[in-house]
Amino acid sequence: MLAIRVNAGIELRLGERMFIDERGASHMDYSTLARIAAVIQSSPVQGWLVIDRDFNVAHANDAYCQLWKVKAQEVIGKYILDLFYHGRKKDKRGRYVEPLIETMDTGHEIALMEVCVSNVYHETNIWCLANTYLLRDDRGDIEYAVGTYLPIDKFKVIERRLDSINLDIIKAFCKAIGVRDAYTKQHSESVAYLMVELAEFMNLSPEEVTKAYLAGIVHDVGKIGVPEKVLAKPGRLSEEEFKVIKCHPVKGAEILAEIDGLGAITRVVRHHHERYDGRGYPEGVAGEDIPFLSRMLSICDAYDAMTSKRCYRDPYTAAQALNEIKRCAGQQFDPVISGNFIQLMKYQHQR
Ligand SMILES: [Fe+2]
Repeated sequence: MLAIRVNAGIELRLGERMFIDERGASHMDYSTLARIAAVIQSSPVQGWLVIDRDFNVAHANDAYCQLWKVKAQEVIGKYILDLFYHGRKKDKRGRYVEPLIETMDTGHEIALMEVCVSNVYHETNIWCLANTYLLRDDRGDIEYAVGTYLPIDKFKVIERRLDSINLDIIKAFCKAIGVRDAYTKQHSESVAYLMVELAEFMNLSPEEVTKAYLAGIVHDVGKIGVPEKVLAKPGRLSEEEFKVIKCHPVKGAEILAEIDGLGAITRVVRHHHERYDGRGYPEGVAGEDIPFLSRMLSICDAYDAMTSKRCYRDPYTAAQALNEIKRCAGQQFDPVISGNFIQLMKYQHQR
């Protein structure tokens, strides 16, 4: 049986039957790469690409193939440098053509890097938020490198309309939270991605799309005040701990109220844990009394949480998560927005 040691970042996404040894290393008892591929495949929002140490593509999930406009059978088993980068690891200025190549070449993992990757195969450029991880065999030798790619082209367009200084501050805040809790590391960007897609799908105005993006990025900023041991606790929270967590929408709204240009989304953040039936928090408001963008946010937030690997459970598949949203429509979630979200995700899957 192949035991693959990975770093702390990847165990959240790929881990299964995981344990930590006395040196703090995590182990997974996958027997084949196919098992990893099955977990990767269930990540509906971001592209995943796995290469082996000879730079051959071992796996590409559906989202990656959609992003790069390729078919899995066209790329799997192929030498990635010939496939996309004219056989080169670096560009004319000596920079690596993309983070996954750099990681396999240098052995350094990369976290939350905004990169513009050129795809010479289709002569396109794609802005992505990329993370890379190394998978090692039981001797500690690098066996595979995994890259995750969240498309952020639309983020770039929206950010051009915004005050860049304030946005940088708020992104730095959100990064600070991510450092303390590996789960939230990319959660806010994934939620922002879903919010923008949903806002456009529902034909909201460009101003509302911008607000939807911002709300996704900052919605959990109030978690900055939640102690780490509560934030990253596996399993059930005590009543007292849950009380602390429940303060984060109000704290977040208070932080945002202090920042010029973000006033419009303080209410959205304050109410992102309200439920359509009025049984949410902090105020227990119901139905259309909850701001529209907060009702969107609670669906996008729940979908990303369900489809992400947590330390105490495997991720839901996209279909399972959509079923759950359907089941909770009218109780936890706005029924009309839920219907739109389900349609959007089905449409994206068919593309
Ligand atoms: Fe939240």
